[in-house]
Amino acid sequence: MLNIVVLVSGGGTNLQALIDAQNRGEIENGKITCVISSNPNAYALERAKNNNIKARILNRKDFSSVADYSKAMLDALVEEKADLVVYAGFMTILDESVCKAFPNKMINVHPALIPSFCGKGFYGLHVHEAALEKGVKVSGATVHFVTEVCDGGPIILQKAIDVLDDDTPETLQRRIMEQVEWKILPQAVSLFCQGRIEVVGSKTIIK
Ligand code: GAR
Repeated sequence: MLNIVVLVSGGGTNLQALIDAQNRGEIENGKITCVISSNPNAYALERAKNNNIKARILNRKDFSSVADYSKAMLDALVEEKADLVVYAGFMTILDESVCKAFPNKMINVHPALIPSFCGKGFYGLHVHEAALEKGVKVSGATVHFVTEVCDGGPIILQKAIDVLDDDTPETLQRRIMEQVEWKILPQAVSLFCQGRIEVVGSKTIIK
């Protein structure tokens, strides 16, 4: 059974989708053993508590640099014996020491079709604001491995939905969460735990 550690910063609806999938028995060979939040007030912490999952706070504000925070996170992940690290709305930057310690063992969900609307500054609602500003006709979400390049690691799963003429950043965000993120994130975690994701160079193959 693989130990899954989920990193969060906010509402935690993606964490909830993972918990629900686990409760339905859809995550074979893996178990969410710990949730770590960069924000002490994140509602995601309540979701962990409500489901009897160990929750830890590693407040970004308690650390003066990315390097210090990354060191503390790395120590916590090793302590928790993480086999898979899932960024589920985790809004804090970690340096390459963490990626190097968990190569192809950290996955992130991003609320756009990478390589569009990704990288530095593209997070949360900003992503959907940028997509609507550009006037794209489809958007969606991507689950990918985390590397030292922000939002640049091998893509595991993607799914698109139509953008509607009267969409606001909020309505688009909600539809992408409901119709894409809450489905493809648990799916990718399940595939990982079954050993079905092969990384070949900069791409993945689902076996
Ligand atoms: C989600 O839409 C997630 O894809 C996004 O933030 C939201 C978090 O919601 N993540 C990023 O933008 C990371 N670059 P949640 O806390 O309810 O899961």
